[in-house]
Order: sequence, then C-alpha cells, then structure tokens
Amino acid sequence: MSPTPVLLDCDPGIDDALAIAYLVAEHLAGRIELTAVVCTAGNVGLEDTVANACAWLDLAGAPELPVAAGASGPIAVPHVLTPETHGPRGAGHAQLPTTTRSTDPRDGARLWVDAARSHPGELVGIVTGPSSTLAHALALDPALPRLLGGLVMMGGTFHGHPGNTTPVSEWNVDVDPEAADAVCLAWETAQADDPAVPAPLWCGLNLTERAVWTPERSERLLEASDSPVARRLTEALRFYFEFHDSVGEGYLAQVHDPFVAWLALHPEAVVAGPANVRVECAGEHTRGMTVADVRGHRGRVDNARIATDVLVPGGPDAVLDEICAAIVSLAGRPD
Ligand code: RIB
Ligand code: CA
Repeated sequence: MSPTPVLLDCDPGIDDALAIAYLVAEHLAGRIELTAVVCTAGNVGLEDTVANACAWLDLAGAPELPVAAGASGPIAVPHVLTPETHGPRGAGHAQLPTTTRSTDPRDGARLWVDAARSHPGELVGIVTGPSSTLAHALALDPALPRLLGGLVMMGGTFHGHPGNTTPVSEWNVDVDPEAADAVCLAWETAQADDPAVPAPLWCGLNLTERAVWTPERSERLLEASDSPVARRLTEALRFYFEFHDSVGEGYLAQVHDPFVAWLALHPEAVVAGPANVRVECAGEHTRGMTVADVRGHRGRVDNARIATDVLVPGGPDAVLDEICAAIVSLAGRPD
C-alpha cells in the first residue's frame, strides 16, 4: 500500500511544532507522505507561523515539500493574538534557525485544493489551528469534502467539557468561529448530497486535554536524543509549561496537536460517535461553542464524528511515548 498522503494546516505554535516533527518522522519512515504544510494565522501572526513551520521542518530534516501561507486572520472578525500562550514569536523559549526553505507561490487555500485534487479520495487533512484557510479553500472549491480521504480537526470541546478560552469555547474555534461553522456546513451539505462522504473527526478538549507532556518527559527525550530538533522542542515546551502553570493547570503542557496528528494516522484506535455539529457565532455568552446535536433534535445529517477516547493500552501517555520515539528517530539538521 502506498503511504497515506497528509496535509497539515497549522499555526505553529508550540504543540503544532511537535505535530510537525512527528509527521516528518512518519514521512521519513515511509508510513505517510507529508504532501503539504499550510500555515494559518493563529497562535501568532501568519509571517511567524510560516517562518516557524519552515524552521521546524528544517530542524526535523524534512525533505523539500510545499509550504504555503494561508489566511492572515479570521474570515469575519479581527485576529486576537495571545502571545502569553506560545510566546511572542510562537516558539516559546526556543531560538529557531532562519529557514532556507522557500514557501510555495500558491496561497494555502489553493494548496489545499491542489493537494486534494492530486490525491482524489485519499488526502487526509489535519487542522491544528483555526479553520480560516480551510474555509477559504472550501469557497475556492466546494467539492473539497468529496475530494478528501478524511479530515481531522483539533478543535472545539464536547460533552460538557469546559472550554479553554471561554467557558464553552476552545481556542482554535474561538479565534474564527465563522470559519469553523463554514467547515461544519460544508460537510453537512456534502453528506446530505452523498452519505459516502467521510465525516470529519473532531478532536476536542474533552479528549486532547488528556495528552499531557511533563518536564520529566522532556528530560527523557533529551536523554534519548541530543538532536537540535529535540533540544529546540524542549526549549519551546518550557514556555508552554510556564503558561499552563500560570492558568492553574500545573507545570505541564497539554499537547493537543501532536496527539491529534497521531489520531489522524491511527483511525482504528479512535473512539468516536456521530453528531451534527455547528458553531455558535452570535451568542453573547456562547460564541465559539461547538454545538453537538447527538440526538437528532434538528433532524440534520451527522456531519461530524466526535472523538471521546483512544484505544491504546496506557491511553494518551502511551501515544506520547510513540510521538517521543518518532522525534528521537529524527537525526534532523544542525540548527
Ligand atoms: O486549544 C488548543 C489549540 O489552540 C492548539 O492547537 C494550540 O496550538 C492552539 O492553537
Ligand atoms: Ca495549534
């Protein structure tokens, strides 16, 4: 079987960096084909997400591959930056090398569509930032839901689990609720027309907050590898520990994005249930809420699968072990 083609749409971002390193390792091992990386403004501005993605790809030793700049902000509202979360440039305490990698002349939306059309029915899209670029791609080619082999979103929070940005919203969705709802609506329309269209897998905080990276895990990583990519990642994570500690989570890091990237590559290990999901965009108290209709109250098609657990002995910690092993496998390039 040829390796699954994968497109990552990210906003690096500290945990996005771990996702990049993991996916590069899987690409170099021949288990996937990392077909494209799209950068979206999110944790930091677009210029920084592009520069960070290229630098992390360089450090991980990735081959040349298309990296495109996507949306420079949300599709309908101003971009709200949160430098206290990932650092002023999005790499925490890590000083990243200046990249030698050139970005693709296409914008991110165009790269989404071209990558999907190059691998009809096969490309797995993984979104670990706001949905802004994906929303533009859906406007560019409404057939995208039928062209993709799968879509995995790090976003939202479900089954009563509290938000990390407002009481009911998760950050990627909260930054650009209109874009996230456009994704939901596009798949609702596509699946109403063709039930064979695969529903996106939404991986919300209800599951991803269980992916906890500790300082001890960083120490173990550095014992196993002194590669530049391992060292820079642990420096970036130190900032994330400080942020999580500052918001009462403890000196640790919830690493949503690499965990979701692993789930995307291991669908057989994911416990998920069907729902119709739409995103609240108007509510004074609920804007950014992912509203999951699991009982069919609205009589609309199930346009989502909501991830609730991972079927791996040892749970999310065991998944992080695999991600660490992948990072250790990266010799990477000198920084
Ligand atoms: O809410 C967590 C998400 O927001 C992660 O993707 C993190 O990188 C930030 O973008
Ligand atoms: Ca992210």
